[in-house]
Amino acid sequence: MTTIDIPGRVHDRIQRRMKRLPTALCEHCQRVEQIARALADRHGEDADAIGLTALAHDATRHFSGVENLLRMEEYDLPPVTDFERRHPAILHGPVGAELLKREDGLNHPQLYNAIYWHTTGNPAGGDAIGHIVFLADKLDPIKRSRYPWQPELQELAEDDLPAAMVMFLTRNVTRMLEKGASVHPAAIESRNALLLEMASAGAV
Ligand SMILES: [Fe+2]
Ligand SMILES: [Fe+2]
Repeated sequence: MTTIDIPGRVHDRIQRRMKRLPTALCEHCQRVEQIARALADRHGEDADAIGLTALAHDATRHFSGVENLLRMEEYDLPPVTDFERRHPAILHGPVGAELLKREDGLNHPQLYNAIYWHTTGNPAGGDAIGHIVFLADKLDPIKRSRYPWQPELQELAEDDLPAAMVMFLTRNVTRMLEKGASVHPAAIESRNALLLEMASAGAV
């Protein structure tokens, strides 16, 4: 297991920040932390670092769309696409990752990426840390009505993280398409990248 050293002051700052969030959001983040810790233990990953990242994943979920758009510019993050301008809530991933890096010192690249891509999936495919944070967020029991197949996802997440990512992305993209909604291109790219990785792993 690779351990990621996070200074105590970074832990403290994040804990304090999350306690100040609206109650329902704070409770969601605490549940996601617990789910992520269990998955990290299960997969032999660093439960402390992943738990803290999972706790922090929605640090800016309460920001308005306008605030997200302003921060994207202020932080010099990649130009906002037309899709994101129309659905600015999705930007709380990148905005949160950057804010936590700048203000709280959470600057480890894998933890940064896990938060950055937790809304869509990482178009490059991602790593175990990113998968755990992403899946833990979707496995919060409060989302059971949106994702009624959560128990199946939980089982797969315990067994095979990339396969669980593909399952989630496939079912969620299908759900979005069926209700006539648009889909962020990163979700499709992420799924494609994971399928390619899985195919080449199987080919060895
Ligand atoms: Fe989120
Ligand atoms: Fe979340």
